[in-house]
Amino acid sequence: MIFNLCKSSSHLIIKMQSCNTIPSRYLSHLHRIKQRAFVDGEWVCASTDKIFSVANPANGEILSKVPDMDVKDIEVAIKAASTAFKEWRNATAYERSKVLKEWYQLMVKNQETLAQIITLECGKPFTESIGEVNYGNSYIEYYAEEARRINGEVLQSTYRSKKYFVEKQPIGVVGLISAYNFPLAMITRKLAAALAAGCTTVVKPATDTPLTALAMAEIAQEAGIPKGVINVITSSHASNPIVVDYLCKSPDIRGISFTGSVQVGKIINEKCAPHVKRMNLELGGNAPFIVYNSADVDNAVQAAIASKFRNSGQTCVAPNRFLVQDGIFDCFVDNLVIEMRKLKMGNGTQSDVKIGPMINIAQLEKVRQLVDDAVSKGANVILGGKRAPLVGDLFYEPTVLTDVRETMALYSDEIFGPVVSIVKFRTEEESLFIANQTDVGLAGYIFSEDISQVFRVSKKLEVGMVGINEGIISAAEVPFGGVKQSGIGREGCHHGIEDFIDYKYICLGNLTL
Ligand code: SIN
Repeated sequence: MIFNLCKSSSHLIIKMQSCNTIPSRYLSHLHRIKQRAFVDGEWVCASTDKIFSVANPANGEILSKVPDMDVKDIEVAIKAASTAFKEWRNATAYERSKVLKEWYQLMVKNQETLAQIITLECGKPFTESIGEVNYGNSYIEYYAEEARRINGEVLQSTYRSKKYFVEKQPIGVVGLISAYNFPLAMITRKLAAALAAGCTTVVKPATDTPLTALAMAEIAQEAGIPKGVINVITSSHASNPIVVDYLCKSPDIRGISFTGSVQVGKIINEKCAPHVKRMNLELGGNAPFIVYNSADVDNAVQAAIASKFRNSGQTCVAPNRFLVQDGIFDCFVDNLVIEMRKLKMGNGTQSDVKIGPMINIAQLEKVRQLVDDAVSKGANVILGGKRAPLVGDLFYEPTVLTDVRETMALYSDEIFGPVVSIVKFRTEEESLFIANQTDVGLAGYIFSEDISQVFRVSKKLEVGMVGINEGIISAAEVPFGGVKQSGIGREGCHHGIEDFIDYKYICLGNLTL
């Protein structure tokens, strides 16, 4: 499938040339994708005119080509955001709330279109994409409401002649760098909070999935979000280092919010440190999924499927190590395998598909190497354990490995694929030792019907988020984030505003009270 860019009066429209595999109902909406980035309210090319291809990971078809921007283009985007900040920061909370609500309404109206684009560029099944759109939109709705509650304080004064005030002010222009696994929700979680706080933005979507972000920008423009408040820049894998470097070093960018790997998060943190920028880092995890003897095994299995196979395992809160107590070990593994055999792999546009592809060859190779390494060190393959070339080049079979040990790379590395690695344990103490034996701590899951045990274990787990008898824990109303090397700061809920505001203390003196 190839899209042609043609001009129709002042408007740019994409025309579809040919398509063999995607139902036409998906294609009618793709005119939103304009092969341009979005800067200062305009649809623009890269200054070099360079472009890169965005492909459907399910079948390799080229969906579109977008600008491969460099430093010069980023400079323009930052300048636009800086200019827009002067007005946007002065908008009343009510005005910001109103336009965010309008954006939310239009995003809801366009939810099918957005979900189709997500499925095409990211590969996740369409029903999951609809779920992502609802989830992502809920952040816009939440922050449209929260915008009106970003209140200051009047503090008790030591002196009769002075009054103390605290005002919350937007920090300025922020760079939002997002991941491929949730092309919509990972952006709205940052962007809606930043806009509610009064910041303006330069958004850098993941190279593999920029089309959703561009469609969202178009909808935001239609909703009346002023020009320059949201700028979406696109760049290829080769250009990413210079683009991200520039965002981190530019004195006009006051904060960076990044979702991605621990490795890249550390690089970004290092680049920003000399400039003392506000940082929000949502990095990887190594989530333990602990099933105790007292657990409701059916519930644990269903939760395991929901949590592990969301986006084919490509989520940072996905269980990475299943710790299963000896008394229910066989029962859990047997039932899990029965359920996993029902998961059909394929193109997410087909309604019965539950497992999509890995996003790219690098991710597929990573998963393959982690499994091969584990098997070479003694892991037992109960299910899967290999690529699925008959389904497509980037598919990996849903896999179960038992006898997983500390020496295997997947014990400590984030798998980000459809691989269940299982460790058997005997005591609660042992489960906690294994769960916490890692440098990261994003999410953790506990399955037990013993109320004292869940509180005991929940308290001792070194993670930022705990699911008890529940595999899906994310929501706009709660703080998303981790401890240890899983990141800095929180996204979502009222805490998600914190990284976009400065506290300004004002002392009013010489009063006669
Ligand atoms: C992520 O995997 O990066 C986010 C998952 C979520 O928001 O639930």
